[in-house]
Amino acid sequence: MSAASEARPQVLVTEVGPRDGLQNEKAAVPTEAKVRFVDALVAAGVRQIETTSFVNPKRVPAMADAADVFALLPRRPGVRYVALVPNLKGYERARAAGCDAIALFTAASEGFARANINMTIEQSLAGFRDIAKAAAADGVSMRGYVSTVFACPYDGPTAPDQVLKVTEALLDLGCYEVSLGDTIGVGTPTDTHRLLGILLRYLPSRMLALHFHDTWGMAVANVVAGLEDGLRSFDASAGGLGGCPYAPSASGNLATEDLVYLLDHLGYDTGIDLDALVSAGDVISPFLDHPLPGRVHQAVQSQRARRAQLAATEAS
Ligand code: HMG
Ligand code: MG
Repeated sequence: MSAASEARPQVLVTEVGPRDGLQNEKAAVPTEAKVRFVDALVAAGVRQIETTSFVNPKRVPAMADAADVFALLPRRPGVRYVALVPNLKGYERARAAGCDAIALFTAASEGFARANINMTIEQSLAGFRDIAKAAAADGVSMRGYVSTVFACPYDGPTAPDQVLKVTEALLDLGCYEVSLGDTIGVGTPTDTHRLLGILLRYLPSRMLALHFHDTWGMAVANVVAGLEDGLRSFDASAGGLGGCPYAPSASGNLATEDLVYLLDHLGYDTGIDLDALVSAGDVISPFLDHPLPGRVHQAVQSQRARRAQLAATEAS
């Protein structure tokens, strides 16, 4: 067998734990711990990581230290450190902090856009036009998010055509990739195939990513559906942390450990070491007021505990 035929197909995992994961935490996590968390994730092999967000700190107090996170962050070569930005003010703060990759975010439903960013979808896109101009001049790369791609906690089910419209608008602004967010984690593989069946008629799969919250336990199944449809870019959060303060009933994101375990066993290459990823979760968990919910994280921890017990028994 040739080396080429042995090469495993690559999948990009975007780690969102330091932002989507921590934005909803009640406990005050020290900035220095956030920085160690990001660096441990990068050491585990993560190559695109959403580090923090430059939003209104009165709305999301957990992200108020965004500039300090960036100031303290060691930058490893080959890693894209992305910051979530809602408006020009956020962009300017991100730039002043030395950030060169941003993620813009809006929604496919008006109810969620209003609750989350206090704007209509069109107002958000109009604001992004100014950011896009500045970003092009500054050489800043832009990712995009469309939330509530299957359903909205305020407006109910979302029409795929509406997702298509907003996704196209973000790509037209110059986003290199748009991540489709199941914000409240209700979608099933049938929904994923239905949505992608429409989007992929008009858009290349390499410009789309999937961002699943795992509220109803369907995230891993939805990833498989996305892979079947040709997508190779998925967001996930270490330990399954996450949730959005403006999406009632949404739980954590798909856990990065669950995603990497799945992809490893399906024969894909993520460049991420599962054991090191679990250890990265251990960097942040002492600062939270609950255990990390991710299944694979917990399974690896139990395995480690059993091995340690066995080693102690053998040594005695
Ligand atoms: P606003 O508060 O609604 O209204 O902001 P405003 O524009 O009138 O501003 C009010 C105050 O905020 C003013 O200050 C502004 O200067 C300040 P004041 O005069 O009261 O002293 N302000 C800012 N300060 C710092 N940074 C900024 C900024 N902008 C305004 N960037 C805004 C509108 C969009 C900023 C606000 O609604 C907001 O911050 N929303 C963020 C909500 C959020 O972070 N949600 C979670 C992330 S999205 C998510 O989780 C979904 C995702 O994961 C995908 C998925 O799962 O679907 C991405
Ligand atoms: Mg999210």
